[in-house]
Amino acid sequence: MSETIKALHKEAVRCAEEIKKYKSVHVVSHIDADGLTSAGIICTALERGNFEYTTRFVKQLDEKALDTIADQNHNIVIFTDLGSGMCEQIKSRGINAVISDHHQPQGNHQFHLNPHLFGANGSYELSGSGSTYLLATALGKNQDLSSLAIVGAIGDMQHLKMGQLVGINREILKEGAKGGNLEFKKDLTLFGKQTRPIHKLMQYSSDPYLPGLTGDEEACIEFLHSLNISFSQDERLRRWIDLEIPEKQKVVSGLFQYCLKSGMPSYKIERLIGEVYVLLREKEGTEMRDASEFSTLLNATARYGHAEIGLAVCMGNREEAYEDARKLLAEHRQNLVNGLTYVKENGVVQLENIQYFDAGSEIKETIVGIIAGMSSTLVENRNLPIIAFAKAEGGIKVSARGTQDLIRRGVNLSEAMSMVSAEVGGAGGGHDIAAGATIPDGKKEEFARKLDLFIGEQMRRKACSK
Ligand code: C5P
Ligand code: C5P
Ligand code: ZN
Repeated sequence: MSETIKALHKEAVRCAEEIKKYKSVHVVSHIDADGLTSAGIICTALERGNFEYTTRFVKQLDEKALDTIADQNHNIVIFTDLGSGMCEQIKSRGINAVISDHHQPQGNHQFHLNPHLFGANGSYELSGSGSTYLLATALGKNQDLSSLAIVGAIGDMQHLKMGQLVGINREILKEGAKGGNLEFKKDLTLFGKQTRPIHKLMQYSSDPYLPGLTGDEEACIEFLHSLNISFSQDERLRRWIDLEIPEKQKVVSGLFQYCLKSGMPSYKIERLIGEVYVLLREKEGTEMRDASEFSTLLNATARYGHAEIGLAVCMGNREEAYEDARKLLAEHRQNLVNGLTYVKENGVVQLENIQYFDAGSEIKETIVGIIAGMSSTLVENRNLPIIAFAKAEGGIKVSARGTQDLIRRGVNLSEAMSMVSAEVGGAGGGHDIAAGATIPDGKKEEFARKLDLFIGEQMRRKACSK
């Protein structure tokens, strides 16, 4: 690992030297939490280094987006959380670029910071924001930005594979802890510990799904009553962070017993406890204090066309931008609930090696991937990748989500989405466990059929190689 970090640092320094040749920089980033934190990191570093900078956020870096960027004749463009899949197209347009990304690279580039190129896996050992953190620390003294790097990694769910952050992510985490910016500890993994009333944590738990509690507010309240946990304090509902340690222990063991009784497998029950990440410099009781809540707050902005709000929050705005982000968060939550209800009501189509649902215009294309990931708790067969279709501008958006088990059996969704979408005249890529594509209208059935065969073939290849 240390060799990998050394090599990445060396490349980061080379990229930083290239950036320092210019006074003004254009930053292009992705519209999710990892993309926003990446932009937050690099823009803060540029500001501190007295550079001038402009930003652009894109859903994906396709040919059209690159044409627009090329037309603007920037001295230098820093691509963060994207770019690695488009090396050749960036070069062929003569864009002077530094790429700081973690997606599976296609082609190569002179200034290219990406864990895959140095023997680390970009789907769980380093995120786009992590890579950009390395770049920022090569540009100047920016170690405090480690918290944003961790928020990006959590936004991309990089902690799920090992149940905690590992690899270079962990090195960044330790650096952050040493500097007093971050804390990591074992705690309840349910979402909303900083901001939500305790019973809401259970009511909205989708992973694990708590039979009899998830979706049933009354039942959650009753459950806490049965444990003698008082609900309010000084006339406000208590949150997880308001509970005393013995009370927390009581809830956790109560939940474990409840789940055991309802016959949940132990590996699922164990997921109730895990490593969580706290941003120590943020105010208690705010979304930004918890890496997971922070990343959801960010997703609620840029995925709805308001990247500037998320970026401002990343760069420290706790006033107007933060208030706006919270309003967007309330809408985002409602959209996620509606999306999951849609999947529940309409079900999925099962083929031999994949299952899919078509949301049409019922789910926004920028969040259909999140819904696909969350709906794994709703489908009967967790052993098939979930593919989601949604209507997008100029085509159909496809999102694919897999599991660690599927990867072990040979599935690589990045390869599958990239190859099969190209066959039907689209484009795609991503990671082994989560990938996406855009395909032309009318190609859904053909794409699903071909993807089904392709993923079947990936598993056969793996089985044969054993
Ligand atoms: O574009 P980007 O790389 O940032 O997105 C990665 C996507 O992969 C995220 O949407 C994240 O939710 C998803 N993911 C997942 N399960 C994992 C790891 C990542 O669904 N175990
Ligand atoms: O959009 P979605 O959340 O499904 O994206 C999953 C992963 O696939 C992300 O890492 C994203 O960057 C990648 N992706 C891609 N090309 C696309 C769409 C998504 O590389 N056309
Ligand atoms: Zn990312």
